[in-house]
Amino acid sequence: MSDAGLPIGVFDSGMGGLTVLRALQVVLPHESFIYLGDSARLPYGNKSAVTVQQYALQASAALVDRGIKALVVACNTASAAALPLLAQRYAPLPVFGVIEPGAQAAANAAGDGSVLVLATEGTVMDGTYQRQLLAVNAGLTIYARACPLWVTLAEQGYAEDSQEAGTVAEAVLAHALRGFQNRPMVVLLGCTHFPIFRDKLAALLGDAAAIVDSAQTTALQVAAAIQPTGAAKADRVGSVMFLATDGVERFRRVGSYFLGEPIDAVELVTL
Ligand code: DGL
Repeated sequence: MSDAGLPIGVFDSGMGGLTVLRALQVVLPHESFIYLGDSARLPYGNKSAVTVQQYALQASAALVDRGIKALVVACNTASAAALPLLAQRYAPLPVFGVIEPGAQAAANAAGDGSVLVLATEGTVMDGTYQRQLLAVNAGLTIYARACPLWVTLAEQGYAEDSQEAGTVAEAVLAHALRGFQNRPMVVLLGCTHFPIFRDKLAALLGDAAAIVDSAQTTALQVAAAIQPTGAAKADRVGSVMFLATDGVERFRRVGSYFLGEPIDAVELVTL
């Protein structure tokens, strides 16, 4: 098979990256995807950079071994810790992360204002978002706060309309906003698990702050790179294969909520 017919590999520590896959499917409806959730080792967000690099290399190897034409690191924590490493290891395979597209989207929305990055501890400590935002606009004021509880909540399947999600989202956001004189103009969801709480967060933040995530900008960047002349004139609809390193039945059930459509089957893999 020529490279053009191969699927695009996508991975995350768990189900959060399905929010990116969803955006990819919208802009690339004719492409096929293999999605890997490393559910056995989630969360990545509280692990050291060295451990996340090792996990990211193993997840990528599993996808590359199956034959892919591009790799999307649909995890901010892994993008922060391992993107240059993965790009170097698998060159000339195109490798995309979610941080640079997310920073671009947030900087565009913020003008010369302020951006609050909500992410995992690993992503906040790494500082890649802060650097990328300043690279787009050095005049931005940037704050970053870790919200690891949201990852747990999302993976446990607490939908944003649940009472638990409401209570935790409110408490975490209040903590994240502590010390601000004025609301930040842009709240950047710097973890792929967070977009499922977007409506809840929007209701809590009110009109004063725009909420941005990296799913759509990442998808557009991938599309522009792999189909530089516009949508492929394929007459087929792409397929998706799902892999997880643990809890395949949970992944199928809860993952459907992240993806916005039913997931029929999930294959158990060992990395
Ligand atoms: N979804 C991942 C991210 O975007 C991390 C969640 C975790 O494993 O801590 O950072």
